[in-house]
Amino acid sequence: MDLGYVESFSPGDGYLPARASQAGGSVRVSLDGTWKFRYGRGPGDLTAGFEAADFDDAGFDDLAVPSMWQLAGLPGTPRYGAPAYTNVVYPFPVDPPRVPDDNPCGEYRRHFTLPPEWDFGGSAVLRFDGVDSCFAVFVNGAAVGHSKGSRLIREFDITAHVGPGDNVVAVRVHQWSAGSYLEDQDMWWLSGIFRGVTVLNERPGAIRDFFVRADYDPASGAGLLRVDAVGPAPVSAPAPATVSVPELGLAGAAAGLEHRIEAVEPWSDEQPRLYSAVLDAGSGEQLAFRVGFRRVEVRDGQIRLNGRPVRFRGVNRHEWHPETGRSLDEATMRADVLLMKKHNVNAVRTSHYPPDPRFLDLCDEYGLLVIDECDLETHGFGLLGWRGNPSGDPRWLPAYLDRIQRTVERDKNHPSVIMWSLGNEAGTGANLERMAEWIRGRDRSRLIHYEGEPDAFYTDVFSQMYTGYAELDAIGRRQEPVTADSGHDAHRRALPMMLCEYGHAMGNGPGGLADYTAIFDRHPRLAGGFIWEWIDHGIAQITDAGERYFGYGGDFGEPVHDGNFVIDGLVFPDRTPSPGLLEAKAVFAPAAIEIDPEAQAIAVRNRHHTVSTAAYRFDWRVEDGGALVAEGDLEVPAVPAGDTIVVTFPPALDYAISTEPEDERWLNVTVSLAADTPWTPAGHAVALAQARLDPRAAEPELRPPPGLHIGARSASAVRTSQVTLGGAVLDAGSGELRRLGPYPVHAAELDFWRAPTDNDAPAVAKAWRRAGLDRLTRKTLAVQCGEDGLLRRQRIAPAGADFGFMTSLTWTADGMLFIEVAPEGTLPCPVPKIGLRLVLDAAVEEVTWFGRGPGEAYRDTHLATRVGRFSLAVGALATPYIRPQENGNRMHARRLTLSGPAGQSLSVTGYPHVDFAIRPWSPEALTEARHPPDLVPDGFTYVHLDAAHQGIGSASCGPPLPPGHGLVAHPLSLTLGFTAS
Ligand code: GAL
Repeated sequence: MDLGYVESFSPGDGYLPARASQAGGSVRVSLDGTWKFRYGRGPGDLTAGFEAADFDDAGFDDLAVPSMWQLAGLPGTPRYGAPAYTNVVYPFPVDPPRVPDDNPCGEYRRHFTLPPEWDFGGSAVLRFDGVDSCFAVFVNGAAVGHSKGSRLIREFDITAHVGPGDNVVAVRVHQWSAGSYLEDQDMWWLSGIFRGVTVLNERPGAIRDFFVRADYDPASGAGLLRVDAVGPAPVSAPAPATVSVPELGLAGAAAGLEHRIEAVEPWSDEQPRLYSAVLDAGSGEQLAFRVGFRRVEVRDGQIRLNGRPVRFRGVNRHEWHPETGRSLDEATMRADVLLMKKHNVNAVRTSHYPPDPRFLDLCDEYGLLVIDECDLETHGFGLLGWRGNPSGDPRWLPAYLDRIQRTVERDKNHPSVIMWSLGNEAGTGANLERMAEWIRGRDRSRLIHYEGEPDAFYTDVFSQMYTGYAELDAIGRRQEPVTADSGHDAHRRALPMMLCEYGHAMGNGPGGLADYTAIFDRHPRLAGGFIWEWIDHGIAQITDAGERYFGYGGDFGEPVHDGNFVIDGLVFPDRTPSPGLLEAKAVFAPAAIEIDPEAQAIAVRNRHHTVSTAAYRFDWRVEDGGALVAEGDLEVPAVPAGDTIVVTFPPALDYAISTEPEDERWLNVTVSLAADTPWTPAGHAVALAQARLDPRAAEPELRPPPGLHIGARSASAVRTSQVTLGGAVLDAGSGELRRLGPYPVHAAELDFWRAPTDNDAPAVAKAWRRAGLDRLTRKTLAVQCGEDGLLRRQRIAPAGADFGFMTSLTWTADGMLFIEVAPEGTLPCPVPKIGLRLVLDAAVEEVTWFGRGPGEAYRDTHLATRVGRFSLAVGALATPYIRPQENGNRMHARRLTLSGPAGQSLSVTGYPHVDFAIRPWSPEALTEARHPPDLVPDGFTYVHLDAAHQGIGSASCGPPLPPGHGLVAHPLSLTLGFTAS
């Protein structure tokens, strides 16, 4: 058996030239379904003659096609090998084109019969939409060809091998191949026939391929349509076909010529206008397709769509499903598109390979701008200083060209595709340049993207990932440092710039999105960016007790892996939106509302590039302390794209606010869809803004009774008995809180620790641990107890350090608690948070609050929340991040009420406000847990009442927190009031 193809640089053999996914075949027979399958451990464990038509495959297993074999058996035990996750490092020695002996192999077989309408005078083509990573094909025992390039279509002419009656296709799939060196994307290594398989029948004279060029001239509004049709291979000559677009009055127009249509409606993500068209080969063969007229160009240093500058509010999308991996059905693809549209996303980068082509149909239809990325990444060479990188090695050139040609040919007829991306993180080298050259010769209607060439000399956009704020701002001003080769500088400096990745959405986060948006908005050069990434690639798992959760790197015994770095999406693996997606939605809002209470005016800025705000309705609502005062419509004239219109408060709103406010008075303005859209019904909110209307009374100076600070005696000197102050029962000797209102208290301590988020983890959390902030010890310096109060002073500090916090808690008879914290010595790092940890020896069922809500919020992730009155079951406060970490903080509560199962309740007032979180486990347990099932309620209720938190940021793969979002320890006080009811 000659397996030389597995380790050859060649992209394959025996295949047909690439073409548009929409082309081919008047009769199509899907071979999806159950195939016979045998899993071999490597080249020494193959079945001789398995491809023979009469081979007895009764001993083979059954496996679904499409599917990825490592996921068979999940969420139980994997049946064939196991999933493995690495980000950058290759999971095999870097020795191209060789791969290890331990190279699992799937032997697939399927019988099929061609339907009665099959024309045996025509040709038969066998199409694979995606096979990972290398495969050889046999039909009725005959070797047909082999191929690499996992996420691209490959077709074989099998006319000579099929006939009426029973036919057998056999496919040998290798997990590893030379191709694996080009597919080192940050994702699970998974194998098999993971996209559809089809047999196509092409009648003589059929159109083999077609290329739709549908340009839009923004100056005149005309459409310029040229459709090139290509006849059968191997000649592939232009075919004498005609094109009709009935809606535009175009009938029987010659293919191969440009036709000007005086007035067309252009396609854009905001108005995805498609026209139905037909290509007629004249031989009875017709091909239906859709046309979207649009022009993509760089002009005046900006990316423009139909003449208007565009700004990407984008996401990076990997194909993922927690049970089927990168095999997606259409419902899942549609779910992604609808979720994106509903969260104000306008662009997708198909990181890091061309998606199932049906996804692009949906982008055409619903309107999403697409950067279509080639299936190419060699990042693991980066760890070797890029020594031997295939991008610069001529032996790999045919494979590089093959991949870009298959990408462009497959997807060239999608109006949503506005850029070709050469690949991701493949370093630099001549092969990449040749790819760009090839595209230029083939398709000038789209831009070329590649982030990995810092000088950007063969691309049409300057692209970076995870750029820091100051640097991005400088690039916005075109004041970046010169290119490495100064000859390229003028070209790059003239280019528009975008972030192909930013806002690393790993775990809790990303924070700081608004800071990025402010910079994008400042500079016309900046075309926005794409958040990393859309979905957590968690794999469905189940505990012995039957609890479901999602696995990540290392959960499958991989010797080399990158842990939960694959869990960095805006939606959880089951596509539940995370708080990060809600934050992104707010930051991406297509209408920016600013309320000026003094001027009694509302400014509406239209952030669309093309459409006016006519599709939206605007509503106002006034609330006092979260209770409705009045509401009504806000008349806003249609604001043209890019413009701002200011309207004054309508009379009904004026009238409503002429009354005396009963509490904090907030004006809410909501922007929602006035009519149904294909992606969501009318009423869906796209933006929200708030402003406080009541004049803010100066906050009263709240101070603990001064007498308590004087003459404090040492703890041991105080008698030990209980004292009741307001609702608090304390041990007069130790100052320990024993009871608060209706709740017995296990402990009440000042707390500086939070379970590090993934965005804390790489830098700041290491510093926290180094400083010992996870192991603070307490020294009580004084407890003073009098009739009107109890004061406890403690010094809280880590072992081995001479810095710490001087703290005091003062409980007073009127139910107040005054907390003072002052750092002492030099703290080497910011602190996770500062607050009170109340451990109740009781259950709390529900919490009602007035403050920011309803969702989780931190200082740099609160734009999706508003100030209002909210009520939630305590269990619903938590965000179940796939790797447990700090979560569920509610920000700036003015007051909250904790209700227990017996109807008991305790109200807490923050002066002026307090952040809170309530959990049935400790921050230490949260820190230790690897998966949600590790978190077991310990019988206590942990109520965290926090003065301040470190921001969230996106430093798991981005810049450090921008200034202003960190929590540098400083003298700080927090005053709380407690009332029992
Ligand atoms: C980028 C890369 C992505 C992903 C991300 C971190 O460097 O392009 O594939 O690895 O970092 O999650």
